Amino acid sequence: MKIAILGRGTVGSGVDKIIADGQTPFLKSLSVKSIFVRENKINLDPRNTANYADILNDPDIDLVVETLGGLEPSHSMIVEALNHGKNVVTANKAVVARHIQEFTQLARENNVKFYFESAVGGGIPWIINLERALRIDEIDSIHGIFNGTSNFILDQMTKTGASFDSVLAEAQKLGYAEADSSADIDGYDIENKLCISADIAYNTVVEPGADLLKFGIRNITAADIAYFKEHGWVVKLLGRSFRRVDQFNFVVEPTLFAPGQIEAGVHDNYNYVGLRGTTIGKLTFNGQGAGMLPTAHALVQDIIDIQVQNDHLDRRFDKQLNLDNSTKIMDYIVRTDADLAPLLPDYKVTVDGNYWLVKQINTELIHQTVAKLSGKPFFACINGGAKHESR
Ligand code: HSE
Repeated sequence: MKIAILGRGTVGSGVDKIIADGQTPFLKSLSVKSIFVRENKINLDPRNTANYADILNDPDIDLVVETLGGLEPSHSMIVEALNHGKNVVTANKAVVARHIQEFTQLARENNVKFYFESAVGGGIPWIINLERALRIDEIDSIHGIFNGTSNFILDQMTKTGASFDSVLAEAQKLGYAEADSSADIDGYDIENKLCISADIAYNTVVEPGADLLKFGIRNITAADIAYFKEHGWVVKLLGRSFRRVDQFNFVVEPTLFAPGQIEAGVHDNYNYVGLRGTTIGKLTFNGQGAGMLPTAHALVQDIIDIQVQNDHLDRRFDKQLNLDNSTKIMDYIVRTDADLAPLLPDYKVTVDGNYWLVKQINTELIHQTVAKLSGKPFFACINGGAKHESR
């Protein structure tokens, strides 16, 4: 099968490398015929072109791998590829989260495939297993550590006491971070990945947007990490969503685990993602969530699935669900110099320096309350921890 790659950054180069180095029969039957690059890069490789029509109108090319990232021109280029009868695989979670229904419908109409395994969980075979579980089960919960960069940052800060900025720079050097790293540290990348997962799990469309609660790790300090450690907690940036009948909740927020919990042991650029299904119960996956070769591996798996006609689940995304973030009740730790007690008169609030413990509050209210605080507050949901139980 002859393919074209759009973009020659970290992930596009990874796909080219895996196919070029390929020793398995699957890989030997693939070849990269064209690579779409900027005008000034054309001369670097005879396969390079800056003219997309060369790819669209080449009848030899069966499949387009989109690794440009961002919304445009990726969205238009995927639409054009599908309309020209090319299969498309992509790692671009931002564009998939916003156009999943359109792309899937266009692929169906043009009798080609549109797959996006690498868009969520990097190298983890997550989408395929979510779909596999759905062949039998209803899925009512998806949760996990969906971002390699933020996990790397929190892990390094916890292990070495390093500053946020120095670890972020390292994650960028290692090719984990997005071009705009705010996607990684403010929760937008996890939002995209949780939207895609929820779309599939609930057969609906969850649009990224302000009504989906998000709080990232931009404000975390070495002192916060030290405070959590002292109290027997490890902090992780988590995405989670639950569905009950026709309602679902959706949140991205820092979360505290006891050192013995599995999440606490997820290190470096790894992700840990899971689902809960009717008969399978809790099912989780662990693997590298970011980086050139793990992400490219998942893209090439999609290519091979198309080549061997291993069809993925046919999805319509046509269920209507309502978002409700007021029903999940948890305990939270908030770091702020402000007096939190008058802001939450109906809740049990205790203070320890500038760290406040808020008992049994709903997700929406704690997010709204912290959004009103000035300075650089930080907060985290308490998921476990021995010290917490005794407070
Ligand atoms: N920036 C993303 C992450 C890349 O760190 O998880 C993989 O989606």
